Amino acid sequence: CHVLVWLLIILFSVTKDSLVDAETNIYTKREGEDITVRCNLTFSGSRKLLCKETCEEGNILIETYRDEAQRGRYSIKYEYRYIRSSILDVTITKLIKSDSGLYRCELQKDLSPDSEDNFKIIITEGEFDPQNHENISL
Ligand SMILES: *[C@@H]1O[C@H](CO)[C@@H](O)[C@H](O)[C@H]1NC(C)=O
Repeated sequence: CHVLVWLLIILFSVTKDSLVDAETNIYTKREGEDITVRCNLTFSGSRKLLCKETCEEGNILIETYRDEAQRGRYSIKYEYRYIRSSILDVTITKLIKSDSGLYRCELQKDLSPDSEDNFKIIITEGEFDPQNHENISL
């Protein structure tokens, strides 16, 4: 019985660790498809940013004070939710292989902390499903 309890404790802590690692949501899409990801932000803010990896010069894909903005294949739609919360829907169309990677949504407001959310996109080959391909080559 003791052994079982220990086993459960170990199992639980392992599961818990992997959940912490998976805190960043990962979305898998195929080349050519569109994706919409909802960023969950704790604070409302007036300056909205969509960035690749970090919001530094050169990594900023969209920067706007409006609630909706589009730039090339990227677009964002901001929606104010409750008093201290809001969402930002990010859409990327016609995905290409190099769209793979980490993205960041950020809200900035004077005199209050920035709010941010991260997600990761993995783009797989568009022409065939890897699993089907394996079946074909067998
Ligand atoms: C935001 O919350 C929604 C609903 O809980 C969830 O589906 C989505 O993956 C979250 N977005 C991110 C980027 O974590």
